[in-house]
Amino acid sequence: MNLTQLNKTALELVADGKGILAADESTGTMTRRLQSIGVESNEETRRAWRQLLFTAEGAGEYISGVILYDETLRQKADDGRRLAEALTHSGVIPGIKVDKSTHPLAGAHGEVVTEGLDGLRARLAEYSGLGARFAKWRGVITIGNDIPSDYCIDVNAHALARYAALSQEADLVPIVEPEVLMDGDHDIDSCFEATERTLRRTFEALASQGVALEGILLKPNMVLSGKGAQDRAGADQVAEATINCFRRTVPAAVPGIVFLSGGQGDEEATVNLDAINKRASSHGAPWELSFSYGRGLQATPLKAWGGSRANVSKAQAVYLERARLTSDARRGEYTP
Ligand code: 13P
Repeated sequence: MNLTQLNKTALELVADGKGILAADESTGTMTRRLQSIGVESNEETRRAWRQLLFTAEGAGEYISGVILYDETLRQKADDGRRLAEALTHSGVIPGIKVDKSTHPLAGAHGEVVTEGLDGLRARLAEYSGLGARFAKWRGVITIGNDIPSDYCIDVNAHALARYAALSQEADLVPIVEPEVLMDGDHDIDSCFEATERTLRRTFEALASQGVALEGILLKPNMVLSGKGAQDRAGADQVAEATINCFRRTVPAAVPGIVFLSGGQGDEEATVNLDAINKRASSHGAPWELSFSYGRGLQATPLKAWGGSRANVSKAQAVYLERARLTSDARRGEYTP
């Protein structure tokens, strides 16, 4: 493991004003997204959508890295270059989702565990050969009646740490993503409590498995009210709760925290990221606080594209505008 290089890549991914585009939807998820705009999902439509995003001129000003899905890492742009090469050429770092999605956790009603550790060492070596410089694994924690259980948090933390150790061995920066879902009508305090427990256990597992914190990025949820809650907390409360929760649980050696958008609307995700960065600059925080958004960056341009070649330039402009606003928020300089 080359920790100096891992740390350098991690810092590049959270460079000033920049963050990550998560374009690593599995085929199932991407199919749902394409169906939502009336487009059939096949290898070609998925490629066309990713190409549109990856070749948007000027995106590198706001986007430091892109997380790809296995299929995309192997696909080519119209000009014959691999899509990952097109990214590298424009100064954007390609990464790869390496987990094999969530599956029901045995004996735990309504909770899931992420699979994909078998054969991971060989897959990481292959991905590195295909140009990936960082990796991602998502564990999912659900809030509900009597959950999350310690059992669910523990097994997911253990898997995240195993994945992170293997990634560092392969000189890929692991993005460690323990996502506490915003599904439900719970209040912000329940999210705080579940997130605190989850992060605590995740960092215990990372430490016990020898993962070097200087060479990872954390990709968590913000501390939010549930999506269906009555009086959802506003941005200032979200920022305060998020920073307080992370101060308790995330060691200062971690170079950066890149939030997922997690089903927030793109405006909500921008306003909350902005409030978090404003609070960090007035109260101090030891980590860079940036983004690794999927829906938060793609929802509006996807609609503008609608699957039509004629709309590519328009959709790219919409994407660049969303990326610019998110970049402003990442600096704490967003004005609605
Ligand atoms: P969202 O920002 O849409 O939550 O996606 C980020 C991601 O990569 C989830 O794993």
